[in-house]
Amino acid sequence: MTLARPDTTVNAREAFGLDTDLVVPAFREADEHVPDIDADYRFNPDVTRALLAGFTRNRRVLVQGLHGTGKSTHIEQVAARLNWPCLRVNLDGHISRLDLVGRDAVVVREGQQVTEFQEGVVPWALQRPVALVLDEYDAGRPDVMFVLQRLLERDGKLTLTDQNRVLTPHPYFRMFATANTVGLGNLNGLYHGAQRLNHAQIDRWNIVAALNYLPADEEIAIVLARLPQLRSEAGRDLVSSMVAVADLTRQAFRVGDLSTLMSPRTVISWAENVEVFGNTALAFRLSFLNKCDEAERPLIAECFQRCFDQELDESGQLGTAA
Ligand SMILES: Nc1ncnc2c1ncn2[C@@H]1O[C@H](COP(=O)(O)OP(=O)(O)O)[C@@H](O)[C@H]1O
Ligand SMILES: [Mg+2]
Repeated sequence: MTLARPDTTVNAREAFGLDTDLVVPAFREADEHVPDIDADYRFNPDVTRALLAGFTRNRRVLVQGLHGTGKSTHIEQVAARLNWPCLRVNLDGHISRLDLVGRDAVVVREGQQVTEFQEGVVPWALQRPVALVLDEYDAGRPDVMFVLQRLLERDGKLTLTDQNRVLTPHPYFRMFATANTVGLGNLNGLYHGAQRLNHAQIDRWNIVAALNYLPADEEIAIVLARLPQLRSEAGRDLVSSMVAVADLTRQAFRVGDLSTLMSPRTVISWAENVEVFGNTALAFRLSFLNKCDEAERPLIAECFQRCFDQELDESGQLGTAA
């Protein structure tokens, strides 16, 4: 870490196309923790504003939304344009309190085995101008949430009890999180492993921004941004039909007819698979249909048929040739 504090500013209008005169602190040089810029990333104005408030005013921002809507990458792409070092920690079931805080480890010093405290990711980030991103915040285990709760308090100090040390956050330490749910647990059965967060947990976030599915035009633009080969009239037509299929499946999900939700991430991988297999229907089976409950497949096939005016051919499935 070379720089201790921001040494330049970024104009939000120029960098993010926001209709505001906001000027955001930033770093002149990127270190190895700054995410790479994805020039094709399309920013959601409201979420961008919320995240910039997080960086500028030290607000704690939670981005909530369905899976694959670009929550994690949104935070990274804002950080990338500010050259703000960023550390992403996925709180899914595996991470423990000791991973976050640190633990005693046996090391060899001058031929002797000694026990030494090895700092976890949270104390490391806290003492630096780093944006800590707690990904899948609603999947965090209770012991993990307990540690994070303290950090979200006003002074945000971290006590390392076993160490007898209290860490004060660096003035440019920032904290963000992403979650699929707003802490109500796995209500619709979609987010296995989502914990119920208590209100005190959610209350501690200063800003909750929502990033859900986008208007069709925006989703088409995102897919086309990812796949330059499709930037022709035919390509655009293809992608709009694909987004229309996704939209039909989402409508069916909303009324409870489907239990699997097609994310923008799935639409992107479907488009990529069209390039790989040269067959839209086959790519659809492989990217989405095969992830779905067998009982629901006829309905999904119907969504496909309505948008492509073509049956979803069973014989197109890979592995059935023999
Ligand atoms: N607005 C966008 N512009 C460009 N790509 C996007 C956008 N939103 C999502 N994507 C792409 O969709 C995929 C899923 O994004 P991700 O951030 O992992 O979603 P989430 O964290 O919400 O599950 C990524 O490959 C990302 O690049
Ligand atoms: Mg994510």
